[in-house]
Amino acid sequence: MSGAADGAGLILGIETSCDDTCAAVVTHDGEVRSNVVSSQGVHDAYGGVVPEIASRHHLQLANAVVEDALRRAQATFDDIGLVAVTQGPGLVGALLVGVATAKAIAAARGLPLAPVDHLQGHVAANFLRMGDGPLEPPFLCLIASGGHTLLARVTAYDGFEVLGRTLDDAAGEAFDKGARLLGLPFPGGPALQRLAEQGDPTAFAFPTAKGVAGLDFSFSGVKTALLYAVRDLGPEEVQRRRADLAASYQHAIVEALVDRCERALRETGLRRLALGGGVAANGPLRERFRALGAEVSIPPMELCTDNAAMIASAARWVTPLPYPAYLGVEAYASGERAA
Ligand code: KG4
Ligand code: ZN
Repeated sequence: MSGAADGAGLILGIETSCDDTCAAVVTHDGEVRSNVVSSQGVHDAYGGVVPEIASRHHLQLANAVVEDALRRAQATFDDIGLVAVTQGPGLVGALLVGVATAKAIAAARGLPLAPVDHLQGHVAANFLRMGDGPLEPPFLCLIASGGHTLLARVTAYDGFEVLGRTLDDAAGEAFDKGARLLGLPFPGGPALQRLAEQGDPTAFAFPTAKGVAGLDFSFSGVKTALLYAVRDLGPEEVQRRRADLAASYQHAIVEALVDRCERALRETGLRRLALGGGVAANGPLRERFRALGAEVSIPPMELCTDNAAMIASAARWVTPLPYPAYLGVEAYASGERAA
């Protein structure tokens, strides 16, 4: 472990990059003492996350969520030695609330602050102590959520190399948009998976974008294909074949993800593959990955979806900034800061 990992006290993590207000307490050797996620169900009515509403809710929830994380960890601010916060990428207004909260807590207590890249956080979820113990590099990591779809080669604890990313929609976004076309509620992934259980995945041949060069992903084709199928079938037929449409659509997304990972495993010679992001909850996706023959590691779901324990975990390999150097730290909306 690096110098940052040898620090004293516990790490308080804060994550507000999208619509979940998260705080967690983690030890320097990767034990999760608490991991609190307050989900903002308010967005469901809009069929997607509304940035301004997300920021406002973060403001209302941040202090209570931090206090809850401390209470559940049976800790106080006196036990904290480092504050870690998601700096980006994400919704900039949402990130701002977390960054300001972290700065205020750190400044008031004279603590150092570690700004963390959100995607590095998803990778570092694998470095926490869990089921089979923490994963050690090297491994491949597929992060598939509502905001990101990224295939990374992880050879160190403090960075990753991007092998492929989506050229358009994220995989979770594709699930959400497909679900919407089929009249399912937001977030669409879980609802679409449930409906697909009664359908035939081979009923419709939706495109899997296997023709996209390299290890990048594309989900706009499958989404358009579903849109046309729904339009061409007409309302009655769509109603009758909804489960088949859902199953075929899900199948195309899963096969696209599996295809790239299979190729990346082959091309890199790596044997281990870790999954992260909300889409890792998908049952057929998990089954397909387990049948690949590689060693597949899927952290518990609460560490796959957005959470602050993964941010605190990543902070162990970030050089912390002392007061007042971190007062100039600003949130960034897009781009990856990976090494
Ligand atoms: O990581 P996450 O909780 O939040 C971010 O987007 O950052 O991921 C949420 C995404 C949503 O798009 C949701 O539809 C998708 O993960 N998802 C699923 C399933 N559960 C959640 N997609 C497919 N199958 C699921 N069972
Ligand atoms: Zn995320």
